[in-house]
Amino acid sequence: MTGSPQAAPAASRGHSERPSQRPWLDPGLPVAERVALLMGAMTLEEKVGQTHQVANIHPDDDADALRGARIGSSLFASGATGGNERDEGVLAFNIDAAQRHAVEGSRLGVPLLFGRDVIHGHRTVFPIPLGLAAAWDEDLVERAATTAAREAVVDGVAWTFAPMVDLSEEPRWGRVAESLGETPVLSGRMAAAMVRGFQGADPGHPDRIAACAKHFAGYGLAAGGRDYDTVSVGENTLRNLHLRPFRAAVDAGVCTVMAAFNDVDGIPMHAHRHLLRDVLKGEWGFDGVVVADWNGIGQLVNQGVAADLCDAARQAIEAGVDLDMSSGSYAAHLAELVRSGEVDEALVDDAVRRILTLKFRLGLFERPYVGEPPRANAPSAQTREVARAAAEAAHVLVSNNGVLPLDPSSGTVHLTGPFVDAGEELLGTWTLDGRGEDVVSPAAAFRARLGAGRLLVTDGRFSDRAVQQVRNADVTVALLGEHPWRSGEANSVSDIGLPAGQLDVLRRLARIGKPLVAVVYTGRPLELGEVMDLADAVLVVWHPGVEAGNALASVVFGDTSPHGRLPMTFPLTTGHIPTSTHQRPTGRLVGRDEDSRLGRYLDDLVFPRLPFGHGLTYTTFDYGPPRLSSGELSLTGGEVELEVDVTNSGDRPAREVVQLYFRDPVAEVTRPLTELLDWEALVLLPGEKGVARFAVTAEQFAYFGRDNTARTDLGEIVLRVGPDALRGGTVSLRVTA
Ligand code: BGC
Repeated sequence: MTGSPQAAPAASRGHSERPSQRPWLDPGLPVAERVALLMGAMTLEEKVGQTHQVANIHPDDDADALRGARIGSSLFASGATGGNERDEGVLAFNIDAAQRHAVEGSRLGVPLLFGRDVIHGHRTVFPIPLGLAAAWDEDLVERAATTAAREAVVDGVAWTFAPMVDLSEEPRWGRVAESLGETPVLSGRMAAAMVRGFQGADPGHPDRIAACAKHFAGYGLAAGGRDYDTVSVGENTLRNLHLRPFRAAVDAGVCTVMAAFNDVDGIPMHAHRHLLRDVLKGEWGFDGVVVADWNGIGQLVNQGVAADLCDAARQAIEAGVDLDMSSGSYAAHLAELVRSGEVDEALVDDAVRRILTLKFRLGLFERPYVGEPPRANAPSAQTREVARAAAEAAHVLVSNNGVLPLDPSSGTVHLTGPFVDAGEELLGTWTLDGRGEDVVSPAAAFRARLGAGRLLVTDGRFSDRAVQQVRNADVTVALLGEHPWRSGEANSVSDIGLPAGQLDVLRRLARIGKPLVAVVYTGRPLELGEVMDLADAVLVVWHPGVEAGNALASVVFGDTSPHGRLPMTFPLTTGHIPTSTHQRPTGRLVGRDEDSRLGRYLDDLVFPRLPFGHGLTYTTFDYGPPRLSSGELSLTGGEVELEVDVTNSGDRPAREVVQLYFRDPVAEVTRPLTELLDWEALVLLPGEKGVARFAVTAEQFAYFGRDNTARTDLGEIVLRVGPDALRGGTVSLRVTA
């Protein structure tokens, strides 16, 4: 970085310094009026500049384009790490230097909008989103997003590309790591919590950032689980499942929505006028910004629906994509398309109005600069507290014959496997700003707990040495699973088994016959059958973030009873994909009896290894039968209360996630055999009885019928309350006119 102006403190950049002929700088005016005043002063080229986002902006290389107002926003640049360097001093300077060209060097002084992927934490890294969803805890997820926003603003980030709300029943697809699970209700509520956390009540507050619900829509249905692959889905399934979490994010006020790379039944989403314009912007009234995904407009050419970039730009603006992430197609062609009459200028105006509205709402005209950071963004005691709570909450105990929790005061523990001393490997797939050195490794946390004398650690090679140490310890804790690079974007697998060699070692560890605990780090549901057979207890812990080791120690030694629940079904094997709660009835219902298996696999059962919602803890809970305040519910309003008694019948306090599912047995279209409707978490002491209460309304049973309009039917609804998607007591309710 040479020759760039010195960054000035944010406080000195008041509106009073602005030329008075810029009336839109008056913060007292309503945003719509400010936008109209500014747009009234803009040339077509300046408007098009607002629709152009560039990656890794450079204050020197891009100076001319910035001063010419040909760039409206930036992707990736950050006060701390823009240019991919770690030197904070240099790069706080980088953002402000670029911003200065736009604000002080361009004709109208429109500030740049800096976006960056802050997916599961910024410097303080939390569990991957799939792990956060496993907490089934909206407050916790909101706190994590709030914390991430507070750190991101220190680096000048004003906008994150999260949450990802693509539903998927495809564990081969690497991006399930970034998702919030397979069901509309869990994913939708977690997404809304994240939106609240990032944006707060006012995204323009100095500690808040704009959020982005992505990828609209159907991305989780990529054929074969191969990232970016085609999607064949009808509008009814989209509406009844995949669009719902987007709707929840929009209802929570999300500022932006990102288009998906995939096509939907032949029409690429960056050209999907019906879903973007008619449904998202029209029917739902979404008035924020639709941003393209990375070169998503340019990829219309690769997808074979656009002849060239100009054609792609025309289709995307017509479809309703407002902001072009990195393809350059709008910058190169939109003005010419308007001038030639091929694109209506009103479409460009609408896109620019949305983008400028966001910039005004974010307060960028009042506070365009990062300036001197008001605080450090390294993990602090407070942010670690959130990270630890989130990591603990993400731990899902999927099997346990009583070996866990371990007694912290006696015995020798052998800790082994590729993640023993891990740092960066435990952060997870989508961290641009997390640092390996911030991670508390499992070995460090266990050492702090047990002292060197009672801990044997064998290194990450996970081989003969590990096997030899089994005899010398009272219990072996084997840390297995996937490296984060085996999940996430573009990282799909054709086999959801453990990585090569791990199962062999686990078999050898188990053969010695000493107690064995398997801890599985993963970005996706894995095939765990044999792991569960070999180990006395299995914990699925995803990629837990900076507090990985501390969270593991507190769960393994019983300071905390594990309380995570699976946000995705774990299929028996790769060949069973898709297996999920979305399954709908066929003409031949599936039961456990021989006859009902007709047409299913000859060589295996069709049930999941671990159902959605599954998770054990260190106590047991007994469920009473569900009770309804009334057996009838009026279509026109009101609610019925459903209650179930839950008793902690063991000897430890724990949190139970009481899950409410339903089935609509007769509808216009096939409906899921079981669908999550609601949940309530109860924290109960040993012997304590709690009551889970659910307010049930007819609206909750609305679905899209044969004509794709919303409807609620009269008649029976079967409700089930239990600890996961397969178990629980049922009760029937009748929806009446
Ligand atoms: C991903 C998006 C992401 C964008 C910018 C794309 O490849 O699909 O989710 O926000 O890159 O990093």
